[in-house]
Amino acid sequence: MRIAILSSEIVPFSKTGGLADVTGALADTLARRGHRVITVSPKYGIVDAPAHGFRPTDITPRIDLAWRTWHPRFWVRREGTRTDVLVESAIYDRPGIYGDSHGGFGDNHLRYALLSRAGIEAARLVPAPDVPLGEDVVFHVNDWHTALVPVYLNAMYRPLGLFPRAPTVLTLHNLAHQGAFSAERFVDLELPSRWHAPWCLEWHGGVNLLKGGVMQAEALTTVSETYAREILYDGGSFGLEEALRSRMRDLVGVRNGIDARQWDPANDPHLDARYDALHLGGKAVCKAALQAELGLPIDSHAPLLGNIGRLDPQKGIPLIIDSIPWLVEAHGAQVVVLGSAGAANRHLEHQLRALEQRYPRNVRAWIGFSERMAHRIEAGSDLFMMPSLFEPCGLNQLYSLRYGTPPIVHATGGLVDSVEPHDPRNDTGTGWLFHTPSGEHFREALHWAIVTWKHHPESFRRVQVRGMSEDLSWEAVIPKYEHIYRFVGKKLGLDVDR
Ligand code: ADP
Ligand code: GLC
Repeated sequence: MRIAILSSEIVPFSKTGGLADVTGALADTLARRGHRVITVSPKYGIVDAPAHGFRPTDITPRIDLAWRTWHPRFWVRREGTRTDVLVESAIYDRPGIYGDSHGGFGDNHLRYALLSRAGIEAARLVPAPDVPLGEDVVFHVNDWHTALVPVYLNAMYRPLGLFPRAPTVLTLHNLAHQGAFSAERFVDLELPSRWHAPWCLEWHGGVNLLKGGVMQAEALTTVSETYAREILYDGGSFGLEEALRSRMRDLVGVRNGIDARQWDPANDPHLDARYDALHLGGKAVCKAALQAELGLPIDSHAPLLGNIGRLDPQKGIPLIIDSIPWLVEAHGAQVVVLGSAGAANRHLEHQLRALEQRYPRNVRAWIGFSERMAHRIEAGSDLFMMPSLFEPCGLNQLYSLRYGTPPIVHATGGLVDSVEPHDPRNDTGTGWLFHTPSGEHFREALHWAIVTWKHHPESFRRVQVRGMSEDLSWEAVIPKYEHIYRFVGKKLGLDVDR
């Protein structure tokens, strides 16, 4: 198959969250299965292209946007059947990905319209590896940033007879971000004015890039089955419910996998000791090392609870903040939170730091981004907290399952689909769930988890082992995407296996 994966962030080049992990792993796994894959993402100021093996090319397609002609330059690197393309343009060459300390960049609609156009051009211009993928390609686009791809294909390319059989699969990673802009921005997109209409980009009078993709892509996927249902009703997609319901027949949930080579406690270079489901001993070493590194008392009897992620209201951080005094005072627990906040949520960082000062022997707020620390927390913690208000899929609960760190999660989206509630009577389950996102309900779930950890170590060990034994890898997920690519190809008369 020939697949072009377009995304605003892709591991290992750029990352703010799970979107980058998923698009990077998708490309990797598809290529390892022999498919010809290109990825297209921006060459942001923070991306060290030469260090990743990219070379500049003289491919600079002409793209008209916002009354200007752009000539972004493609940087390329190749590995087997995978070709990565970075799009170089002054508009990306800033220290932040989506914004800076003042908030989001004012021209993001333009930055990502350019990425969408460049991605289409890359499919027919960049040798991958020897000749370009050409027009018989599946475009797999992600979230609002590249949702314009099917719109451009339908509005600009197909009327000229270009890409007649190239289907688009749009994956919805998070409906909280839609790329909604005021109506005046529409002209910047250089689309015929009739496309600013309720059946495409129009939304409450303005422009909504994600809606355009939802209405025009041949297939829609979300990153878990439960999220695919949640977004259809009750504000689950922040206003796009009706648009999504109109595409219900083309919408399917595919739960994300994890990069099982990077996230493997038996073979993780960030850890002080390795372990697996049969030999859990190393986990205690990891816990002591984490406590020492964080400056917490080295105490195997204190339950250590971890959390990692964007400090964003989505992640239910206020529930953690609200429960820390109880965790410390009622259970003598230790808590470590690794994360950073955008400009709008700095108060969460301050509140966590205040708790650290109040409980210096129990609480650590590790503010910042650290891949290494994320691995050490997954391994060294006894339990993992993920009380997200909504969670399209979530990766950290999957990492915790694999690291024998049972998760305590709010029963929403991908968290419900990946964590089975512990049932001590039948000896089943891989973690703890709570159904109402309140401090009280969260603490009830925490209570049962800690009681099991403290007083029923054998039962707890079986919870760990069940989670560690699950196959959460991308290899197990990819056949579902291959099926979707085949299916959408057929819609437009493209045999993707040819
Ligand atoms: P989201 O995409 O909503 O942020 P996910 O759970 O899907 O949530 O993915 C988050 C990813 O980002 C995970 O790989 C997680 O380990 C990583 N991550 C988030 N914040 C940090 C941080 N401060 N340091 C290291 N890794 C982080
Ligand atoms: C989003 C979601 C998260 C998901 C990730 C990757 O950012 O918030 O739940 O795991 O995308 O699909």
